[in-house]
Amino acid sequence: MIDSAALVPLGEPEAFADGVPYERFRRMRDEEPVAWTPGVHGSSGFWSITRHSDITTVGRDWETFSSSRGVALEDLADDQLEARTSLIDTDPPRHTELRKIMSSQFLPRIVNGYETFLRGIVGRTLDHALALGSFDFVHEVSSQIPVRVLARMMSVPDTDHEKLTAWGDRLIGHTDPELADVLLGSAESEAYRLLPFRSPASLEVFEYGRELQAQRRRQPTGDLVSILVESQVQGDRLSQQDLDNYFLLLSLAGQETTRQAISLAMQTLMDNPQVLARLQEQPALLSGLAADELLRWGPPVLHMRRTATRDVELSGTTIKAGDKVAIWYASGNRDERVIERPDTLDLDRTKVDLLTFGKGGPHYCMGSFLAKLEYRVTLEELVARLDTARPDAPGERVVSNFVNGLKRLPVTVTTR
Ligand code: HEM
Repeated sequence: MIDSAALVPLGEPEAFADGVPYERFRRMRDEEPVAWTPGVHGSSGFWSITRHSDITTVGRDWETFSSSRGVALEDLADDQLEARTSLIDTDPPRHTELRKIMSSQFLPRIVNGYETFLRGIVGRTLDHALALGSFDFVHEVSSQIPVRVLARMMSVPDTDHEKLTAWGDRLIGHTDPELADVLLGSAESEAYRLLPFRSPASLEVFEYGRELQAQRRRQPTGDLVSILVESQVQGDRLSQQDLDNYFLLLSLAGQETTRQAISLAMQTLMDNPQVLARLQEQPALLSGLAADELLRWGPPVLHMRRTATRDVELSGTTIKAGDKVAIWYASGNRDERVIERPDTLDLDRTKVDLLTFGKGGPHYCMGSFLAKLEYRVTLEELVARLDTARPDAPGERVVSNFVNGLKRLPVTVTTR
């Protein structure tokens, strides 16, 4: 058994301070694939699920592993659930109805229509940033791209993109003393317990969303906000609370994770110059599985939570009804039972059984095609321009056990 008492619990953001603890995850997969993990910030403990096959089982079997008690590790009382629930914390059949409202906007045939626009943004962003020579890659590149696509999908002025990014930072940074308005688990956060992420930033996002919703009710434009305000579930329009939470989910998921993915990819290219060289020679690899391999290597979402609805056995351990489970995608992506030589970054893989967007269940990332398009186009344009790239300092990580993210990545580059 792993001497878990000697380790920072995975419930603590600090467990990821130096990066994803891959060696620890490997030992957990081998020795204790369903491991009891102490809770933090006054929340109860939970089971950590680290094997690829178990993560897939949990993600798919929504009847046994429900999302309806929340998908973050925080324990939520009924009034908090009632106030904070969005699509992602709902089970079928309501989940199916809520997802149907937006899912068609993220299908490949719609998303591919953004490619020309996207390539234009990426080209302009990179030309500006790379001309600086030395710069913060997170600020100058990653933070400029996905958010502009989202802004277009919501028909909001391009100039609003900085607001959206800053809200994203404050929300997902709710465990990071530099980014949070109010730290999760602090006594102060009790005042915000009914808000997503217990963050006052949620109120600003709601207000911004409401203004857009009022405009679209008066004058629909066919954008994501118009679709949201016109939508119905079983004959009823969404309540203002549902609209608030749906809008917040889209505003956050639509930019934050892809932003982190792009930053992590740049770090990977600098850590592995042979990979950069290979992509410079053969950029077409990115249209194959090389982009998936890079997403396996640098997954922006570390885990999601579910709650058992009945007693159930997983890899020999009994999980009791009501227990929380955390499915650690980052660990499953390195599971040697499924992925050969998992600790080798190999652009020539012929199969990448990726968990970065979830796998197969009803909550599988709704924006995965868009995220992959943004990721591929950014990397294609980047490797076409870069000659060399080196870090000026280690990337500064978001203090979090939920996102695998970078706040800053100072780089020096030369171009071709
Ligand atoms: C690299 C970027 C991204 C990553 C790594 C990512 C990852 C994930 C993961 C792991 C989930 C949960 C899957 C599960 O529980 O089975 C998820 C759900 C979701 N993602 Fe993404 N995502 C990304 C980009 C996006 C984008 C661009 C959007 C666009 C709006 C988006 C929208 C959503 C939504 C709405 C859900 C909830 C779906 C549901 O509950 O049915 N994501 N994503």
